Amino acid sequence: MTRTVKLFAIIAMTLTVCMSGVELKAEQGDAHAFEMNKHLGRGINIGNALDAPREGEWGVTIKEEYFKIIKDAGFDSVRLPCRWSNHALKEAPYTIDPVFMKRVDWAVNNALKNNLYVMLNMHHYVELYEDPLPEKERFMALWTQIAEHYKDYPDTLLLEIFNEPDDAFTPELWNEWLKEAHAIIRKANPTKTIVIGPGNDNWTTFLKLLELPEDDRNIIVTVHYYFPHDFTHQGAEWMTHEKLMQNLEDKKRVGQPLPAWASDDWEGDSSTFLGTKWMGTDEEKKYMTDIFDIGVAWGKKHNRPLNLGEFGVYEKADVASRVRWTTFIVETAVERGMSFHYWEFCANFGAYDPYKKAWREPLLNALIPPKK
Ligand code: BGC
Repeated sequence: MTRTVKLFAIIAMTLTVCMSGVELKAEQGDAHAFEMNKHLGRGINIGNALDAPREGEWGVTIKEEYFKIIKDAGFDSVRLPCRWSNHALKEAPYTIDPVFMKRVDWAVNNALKNNLYVMLNMHHYVELYEDPLPEKERFMALWTQIAEHYKDYPDTLLLEIFNEPDDAFTPELWNEWLKEAHAIIRKANPTKTIVIGPGNDNWTTFLKLLELPEDDRNIIVTVHYYFPHDFTHQGAEWMTHEKLMQNLEDKKRVGQPLPAWASDDWEGDSSTFLGTKWMGTDEEKKYMTDIFDIGVAWGKKHNRPLNLGEFGVYEKADVASRVRWTTFIVETAVERGMSFHYWEFCANFGAYDPYKKAWREPLLNALIPPKK
């Protein structure tokens, strides 16, 4: 072979390999994200820890043993909510505190070591809810650092762009930002599955406003479910009058049914609902499945796998109702092929009691039904 012919052959071979790689990925595209969603399976949020202003301030400091306890109970994955925004410079280059980064690494590594898939996110960047625009450069810079930092981690680590966009961080603005953040993450992590939810607290009913990077098929779509808030958030201090009134406006925007108490001159807050039970009547169940089926229909239409990234009931509700609600939601999600992450492991929605060092059995059984 002359040198030119040889060179030509090498180029042709390289092109074929590259092309088949591309084809393979494109073909596998949809199937791969669905496969990853199966691996997420039944999961739990290690909440109120790395998402607190500082770990420990909300009563949870993650212990090494937690990962084994979670795995041994039968969970497949954990969601790790992280408040990066409290651990990075306020000015450019917005460097993430290496001590915090190391702590997150520690948590991720321990989860992976215990064969748990990990969904790592950006949580409680609260400045975005009030005035997002001045934060945009910082938001993207945080993602550039996180994406770069985790690029050599295995694909059993999934990256979720943002927990619950809300208020001034509108669904429209979210559509713009998510595409930019997605491009940043994808550039450094060509094969990792990226997780993205709809605007307005990741409500299923807001999926219809969500715009994704269409060509990227390695995406799992996540939704959160806490309806009806009167039951799940009874007595929750952060569910204020204003928040509940805003929820009514949000429901009106997407045509979601309003609760019986809805009126402009309602004066209550979440404490008004203390004592609300969930009995599992046909009507209560239908309310729940109707909302789930909106998600399922959207998922089918767009051919995207769905994750239920948060759901749970605050500790002030009675245990029997909490267990009934949780059992039904888990069945509903699993029947519809969704993976899930219960909110949360060991704080005030907790399925695990860190003082007694024991699972709250009825809640655990709702999440992982005992084998018959
Ligand atoms: C928030 C938690 C809160 C939970 C239920 C989560 O998205 O991060 O702080 O407890 O929702 O309201």
